[in-house]
Amino acid sequence: MTRAAITGWGKCMPPAVLTNADLATFLDTDDAWITQRTGIQQRRISHVLGSELSYVAAKRALACAGLAAKDLDLVVYGSCSSEEVVPNTASAVQYRLGAWNAGAMDVNTACTSFLYGLSTANGLIRAGSVRNALVVGVENISPFMDWDNRGVAVLFGDGCAAVVLQATGDGDDTGLVADKLGCYADSRQILRVRGHGTTYSNREVTYGDTAWDFDGQEIFKRAVHGMGSAAADVLARAGVTPDDVHLCVPHQANLRIIEFVAKRAGIPMERVFLTVRKYGNMSSATVPVALVEALEEGRVAPRSLLLMPAFGAGLTFCAHLVRFGERVTPIDTVDVELPPCDKTALQLVNELRALKKNRSRSAKGLAGPIFPETQAVLAGSTAVA
Ligand code: UT7
Repeated sequence: MTRAAITGWGKCMPPAVLTNADLATFLDTDDAWITQRTGIQQRRISHVLGSELSYVAAKRALACAGLAAKDLDLVVYGSCSSEEVVPNTASAVQYRLGAWNAGAMDVNTACTSFLYGLSTANGLIRAGSVRNALVVGVENISPFMDWDNRGVAVLFGDGCAAVVLQATGDGDDTGLVADKLGCYADSRQILRVRGHGTTYSNREVTYGDTAWDFDGQEIFKRAVHGMGSAAADVLARAGVTPDDVHLCVPHQANLRIIEFVAKRAGIPMERVFLTVRKYGNMSSATVPVALVEALEEGRVAPRSLLLMPAFGAGLTFCAHLVRFGERVTPIDTVDVELPPCDKTALQLVNELRALKKNRSRSAKGLAGPIFPETQAVLAGSTAVA
């Protein structure tokens, strides 16, 4: 049976670091609260768009797999921060890479987008329509973060990583062994970004003037339940026990959630790979960035079995069980970097906060410099060119 094996991996982290102390300069919060309640000490803020982060991560993943961009049949952009609704952002990555033989699709299931993308690519590989796929997990959340809401602003960060998936030969037991996708749609209202999408083309909320609905405690409970049950499901279907799992690479929204999930799954914390302290919750980039770092740090031995549970808005949840092959080191590397960042993370965030304040002000007056065309439509004017 053909399977989809991870043969290439690469990450691209924006360099600007936002500390808990930085957040305390404009929010009523402090390092002790954030560290105790979440385990997060730092996160990254991107100075470039998600497609730029993805290009660098993808070049690294392709070199790691020993493939050229022209070898790709599919590019999947797993993200809830696509640059535009139309055209999709996967096409921007295809264009930058010159992956002219590939199809290109965005997958948005919030924080689980990378893993839902992995399942999508895996299905197409098993069906025989794709042989080589690139799956990116990327988020540039900072532009639509609710920066003056301490309940969410301290939790998230930007980041990106990509993997190359390739069809295995018959009889090869490496690759995606089992996956479980789920969604608690009855809780879709407890994690919502207002001001993004056609619902908001009305007079009450201006597009881009984002505010988050976020019931942290309820999300916490459902996250533990969803990830725990999906993990148990894939272990049972693969006929393996928690002791067979060499490393758990979970979604990382809160250290306490991870500890509960690991306990439920029967996996000791020594076998859980953590990045939450230095990167916070990077939504769909979280699992792939952690996976790449686990490989870079030698935590993935040849033929390791990895468990990757995740959850996100929707509330979507999932778990994936992946068997690595003999090779856990890159075939090649590539010399590609992001353009330099000449600002601190706090400067980048303060610029975003100032932009948002202007936007809110202009929305109230229904006339302003940020989105003049939108303002005209909202005001019922016919003066849209
Ligand atoms: O990928 C999906 C992302 N979402 C999540 O994973 C969220 C899951 N939920 C969580 O991680 C936790 O619920 C939070 C970290 C969001 C909050 O932790 P908590 O232990 O559930 O705290 P809480 O909401 O019960 O708030 C406790 C107190 C409140 O004050 P009072 O009412 O006790 O006076 C909050 O107002 O902490 C206050 N608080 C803060 N204080 C300082 C809330 N946020 C902050 C903050 N700094 N940033």
